[in-house]
Amino acid sequence: MSFLDLAKKRYSSRKYKKIPVEDKKLMYILEAARIAPSASNKQPWYFIVIKENENIKKVSSCYHREWLYDASAIIVACANHNISWKRPADGKDHADIDVSIAIDHMTLAATDMGLATCWICNFDVPECCKILNIPEHIEPIAILPVAYPEDKVNENRHTFQRKKIEEIIKWETFN
Ligand SMILES: Cc1cc2nc3c(=O)[nH]c(=O)nc-3n(C[C@H](O)[C@H](O)[C@H](O)COP(=O)(O)O)c2cc1C
Repeated sequence: MSFLDLAKKRYSSRKYKKIPVEDKKLMYILEAARIAPSASNKQPWYFIVIKENENIKKVSSCYHREWLYDASAIIVACANHNISWKRPADGKDHADIDVSIAIDHMTLAATDMGLATCWICNFDVPECCKILNIPEHIEPIAILPVAYPEDKVNENRHTFQRKKIEEIIKWETFN
């Protein structure tokens, strides 16, 4: 499969089969996160892997959607603001960018394994920190359910669900 085929195959799945995800596949996904690039190679991240049913229920309560409770595993991707690279010119913290790259590696690796994911950022962050005992300098960036999908998407969806290429490319200068 070409890279573009894999990227187009990934979608946000919100309906899961209630079957476990093999540890080998989970480790493949986590390895994809581990090797991701990061600003100044700081690797300012932690990945909390939740497999126990009881704990999946607990963490799902940070984002009340029926479908999330059915996830076979949940990975909470966290940023370590103590070690992330800050741009000297303006102090911009690159932790979110770094963790997001790792998350996207994971969504693509999961797709490669025939698994489904969905980025979740609209969750209750303080509640998540409380449930998972996350210390102050660590920020959960996204909740990523990992499961076998029960839903399907239109294979041609990128033709109508995305902007046209000429709308997003600026050649040489902005205008
Ligand atoms: C940073 C980010 C945050 C997102 N947060 C949520 C979320 O909280 N809940 C949700 O259901 N989907 C969430 N999504 C999924 C987007 O809605 C989805 O990626 C977008 O509609 C495109 O659809 P696709 O992923 O199926 O291609 C998020 C996606 C990204 C990249």
